[in-house]
Amino acid sequence: MSTGGTAMSLMRLLVSVLIIMLSGSLAASNPDVDKFLQCLRSHSHSHPSNYPIDQAIYTPTSSSFQTALEAFITNRRFVSPSTPKPVAIIAAKHESHIQATILCAKASGLQIRTRSGGHDYDGLSYVSEVPFIILDMLNLRSIDVDIAGETAWVQAGATLGELYHKIANLSNVHAFPAGVCFTLGAGGHFSGGGYGTMMRKYGLSVDNIVDAQIVDVNGNILDRKSMGEDLFWAIRGGGGASFGVILSWKIKLVRVPPTVTVFQVDRTLEQGATDVVYKWQQVASKLDRELFIRAMPQVVNGTGAGVKTVRVSFIGFFLGESGPLLSLVGKSFSELGLQQRDCVEMRWVESTLFWYGIPRGTSVDVLLDRLQGPQSFYERKSDYVKDIISKESLESIWKSMIEYEPLWMQWNPYGGIMSEIPSNATPFPHRAGYLFLIQYSTDWNEEGIEATNRYMNLSRKMHEAMTPYVSKYPREAFLNYRDVDIGSNPSNQTSFDKAVVYGTKYFRDNFFRLVKVKARVDPDNFFKNEQSIPSTLASAN
Ligand SMILES: Cc1cc2nc3c(=O)[nH]c(=O)nc-3n(C[C@H](O)[C@H](O)[C@H](O)COP(=O)(O)OP(=O)(O)OC[C@H]3O[C@@H](n4cnc5c(N)ncnc54)[C@H](O)[C@@H]3O)c2cc1C
Ligand SMILES: *[C@@H]1O[C@H](CO)[C@@H](O)[C@H](O)[C@H]1NC(C)=O
Ligand SMILES: *[C@@H]1O[C@H](CO)[C@@H](O)[C@H](O)[C@H]1NC(C)=O
Ligand SMILES: *[C@@H]1O[C@H](CO)[C@@H](O)[C@H](O)[C@H]1NC(C)=O
Ligand SMILES: *[C@@H]1O[C@H](CO)[C@@H](O)[C@H](O)[C@H]1NC(C)=O
Repeated sequence: MSTGGTAMSLMRLLVSVLIIMLSGSLAASNPDVDKFLQCLRSHSHSHPSNYPIDQAIYTPTSSSFQTALEAFITNRRFVSPSTPKPVAIIAAKHESHIQATILCAKASGLQIRTRSGGHDYDGLSYVSEVPFIILDMLNLRSIDVDIAGETAWVQAGATLGELYHKIANLSNVHAFPAGVCFTLGAGGHFSGGGYGTMMRKYGLSVDNIVDAQIVDVNGNILDRKSMGEDLFWAIRGGGGASFGVILSWKIKLVRVPPTVTVFQVDRTLEQGATDVVYKWQQVASKLDRELFIRAMPQVVNGTGAGVKTVRVSFIGFFLGESGPLLSLVGKSFSELGLQQRDCVEMRWVESTLFWYGIPRGTSVDVLLDRLQGPQSFYERKSDYVKDIISKESLESIWKSMIEYEPLWMQWNPYGGIMSEIPSNATPFPHRAGYLFLIQYSTDWNEEGIEATNRYMNLSRKMHEAMTPYVSKYPREAFLNYRDVDIGSNPSNQTSFDKAVVYGTKYFRDNFFRLVKVKARVDPDNFFKNEQSIPSTLASAN
């Protein structure tokens, strides 16, 4: 008892000394940081002795600061010297570290950016124009699967790959409907909706969440019961970052057959891609919900020097064996020309590797690999299509793609259960009446602001060229495909004008309910970013 007590006191002393040293070195440059670190120290009594908070703190003077910062940045646009850097990174190892970080950031006038997987397209989980702290969830990544109960608790810092791997380790016939890219973090991905290849059968990730734990603006840890149904509704698609820090999710597992089938069929324009895409639009959202066929148009080299063309890849996932798949496609979508040799049967978990482009035969342990730091520079945008695009218009879209290349798109079919879930069941409003979701992708590798501006312009021009073919009033967008261009027009005078623009595009009428929830749980608008939910309908805060 007394030995333990002495060890504890010694530990606290060490922590305090360390923090004083850290804060001392920064005090001259930033009094807010000094105040923040001192405040964390004063909360150290609330951290269990085996989780001292000093082990979670990185400041710009720490030798590992840059590594900690860049490890989970996916977009090279945000690793330049001019990218604003956090005053500290708190890589929480215990929930008490989150509580202290929230209370101390608030008391010190610093903003928090919470990062789980770091895949935000515009870097909102690790970049801010005002002095800020990154609260990194990477260490809070436990996953507890209960196969008998068909549920699991997943901490926010876990990746989808870790979840898929864990489920598959315990059962061959269970799965979870979530994203295709398995390095995504549960914290950001689920709270923004989360879709994948089983969306037409089981809906989004948020449609399969039954409980959650969140740390609120007062540092309280709430579960579904104590947070109330309105907040539980809001964090399932409204984005977690506006409401607090999600600690963990309780998810409902879904059933899958022991064998699923995947395929890929490519057609260039010269091989009749336009006709196949035209037919795809008519059938993809009406096919059996066991079947998901993504169309992926991409600008590629044609035959002949300097000639570009568009190749469309049709990538499929079927909850069943290849026999029934072939007869289904033969009946409803024969234009695809799907053959037995295009089909590969495998376990569900192996299909997650296929969809990520990993060579067949690779061990499923690759699902445990985390992101390897920034790969390329990129810009992403999204659109929803509600009406079939004519063949002539498809031709004109391909022309624009070639004009504004490099460019590739993913067209993801809706329908199935997506059409049956009411548009206000969760904040995610794009349910019945949508044919498909488009993601536009522009990738480049040239350094420098000039190149960035040029490629960003190309991306914006492509989006502009699509205006006639996509949803209108509002022109809708998918929150998980973050795009800070939305609402950024200078004609939006106040931040609330801006919020109404991105809010109604991402959430339609659900935006106004999100504002009400925000007003209740974070009335002073502490948790905010460039596209967060405002806490009032009236003012411009
Ligand atoms: C390569 C790639 C593939 C993708 N594929 C898909 C896909 O198949 N389906 C799909 O739906 N989306 C997809 N996305 C988009 C992805 O769902 C979003 O980028 C999502 O926000 C990523 O979550 P994250 O935790 O990795 O990101 P982060 O950048 O960590 O977080 C994203 C946002 O959520 C907030 N946030 C993160 N953690 C928490 C938390 N614990 N509490 C509160 N707020 C939090 C952040 O502050 C930020 O605002 C893809 C993105 C990439 C880069
Ligand atoms: C599950 O994981 C354990 C421990 O890593 C391993 O020994 C076992 O082979 C795995 N089982 C399956 C079915 O993947
Ligand atoms: C496409 O053609 C360009 C030259 O026009 C060449 O530099 C590039 O490597 C080619 N890309 C592929 C994938 O073949
Ligand atoms: C991008 O577009 C803007 C507005 O059209 C223009 O002013 C700017 O020069 C363009 N930049 C590049 C690098 O093309
Ligand atoms: C914001 O700007 C957009 C684009 O110019 C405009 O359509 C919209 O009406 C503006 N919103 C408000 C609330 O002023």
